[in-house]
Formats: sequence, C-alpha cells, structure tokens
Amino acid sequence: MELRLSVAIDGPAGAGKSTIAKILAKRFNLMYINTGAMYRAVTLRAMEENIAPEDKERLLDLVDSLDMHFKNDDLILNNENISEQVCMPSISNNVSNYAAIPEVRERLVYLQQKMSEKYNVVMDGRDIGTVVLKDAPFKFYLTASAEERASRRYKEFCEKGIEVNYEELLEDIKRRDYIDSHREVNPLTKAEDAIEIDSSNLTIERVVDKMADYIISRTKL
Ligand code: CDP
Repeated sequence: MELRLSVAIDGPAGAGKSTIAKILAKRFNLMYINTGAMYRAVTLRAMEENIAPEDKERLLDLVDSLDMHFKNDDLILNNENISEQVCMPSISNNVSNYAAIPEVRERLVYLQQKMSEKYNVVMDGRDIGTVVLKDAPFKFYLTASAEERASRRYKEFCEKGIEVNYEELLEDIKRRDYIDSHREVNPLTKAEDAIEIDSSNLTIERVVDKMADYIISRTKL
C-alpha cells in the first residue's frame, strides 16, 4: 500500500515555518506547499489591478483567473515564478486583509486540498491543521516571541539587500498576528492535536530534528 504522509505546520508570521517545511520536504520526499504564498499572490495581482478587498466581485473573478502550482518549493502563478515579489513588505502589509475574505479562503482552501489529494505534502500556513488538512497525521504549531520573529525577518531582508526598519517589521507582525487570529473565518489557532514548539531559543536544526524524530517515531517505514 502506498504510504500517505502529510504534515501540517501552522503558526504566526516569522516563526520559521517555511524554512523548516522546506527541509522536512527534502528529508521525507514531500511536496512543499506554501499556502501563505498563495494568499500573497492574490494580494499581488489585486494590488496591481487596484482591486480592494471589499470589491468582492472583481476580487473573486481575479482569483478564479489565477493558475497556481508549486515547483521546487516556488509558487508559479500563470507560468511566472513570483516567489521573490510576494515577499516584499508592501504585500505583507496588505495580505491579511485579502486573506480575511471568506470566499477567497474558500477558493484557496479548495486548491490546497486538491494538491494534498494528489501528492504527499508538507503544508504551512494559518489554518492547515484546523481546516485544510484536518486529518493530517502530523500537525505542528510553531511559535516564537514577536520580537524574535521580527528580528529573524529583519535579518532575512538585510541578507537580500532589501532596506527595512525593524520597528516597522515588528509592528507589521503584531498587526498581522492580530488580524489573522481574530478574523471570523478560519482564524489562526492551534489544532487540538497539534504539537506546539516554541522556537524562540531553538536553532532551525533543533526544531527540524524534533519534528523529524516525532514523525519517524510514529511512522512504520
Ligand atoms: O511568511 P509569513 O509568516 O510572514 O506569512 P505567510 O505564511 O506568507 O502568510 C501571509 C499571510 O497570509 C498571513 O499573515 C495570513 O494573513 C495569510 N494566510 C492565511 O490567512 N492562511 C494561510 N493558510 C496562510 C496565510
């Protein structure tokens, strides 16, 4: 019988989800699905076309016109690799408002579930363990203090040569945490059966090892 393995990772902005998910994907031969990038892609195109989150009709037409798939950890949007563009602070500042629209979520959750039916996946986001992969055998909830998360983001941008202000990043993170955890539909919350890991004082390697050990100990390979 084919082994079905799916891993859900949720948590607030900058907790290290995507870095860790990519390593786990390689280790266990899973497809990495970055659901945040999908919400960011919608935000990128909506902002380019001056579509506000409240302009539902145009927004949903736009979402329906987007073709999204993943290749080598990157999101390909209508044949274009937009992974770098969607990480820009202007997208981060707006994404939570688009992600709070229930019909946008409905459409992206549908696409994410289709992907998980086709492939063994590790998926990261805000509602993976609670909604998208509710039956996933492995669920993790990754946290870290807001200050630690902002300082990690700050370093990432500096390494890429993008000028950012630490205080602004911290504000953005706190604001997104608030919107993501207070929205009406599928707010960020830890699934009851998720393992919580606070990565504030742990290296990436330690977090990956903890997760990998847990997966291996519960998988008959
Ligand atoms: O990388 P970072 O943690 O900053 O965020 P992300 O994973 O790229 O997600 C960007 C935003 O998309 C989040 O702040 C949420 O507003 C939204 N999102 C969501 O609502 N549901 C998901 N499954 C993933 C992201």
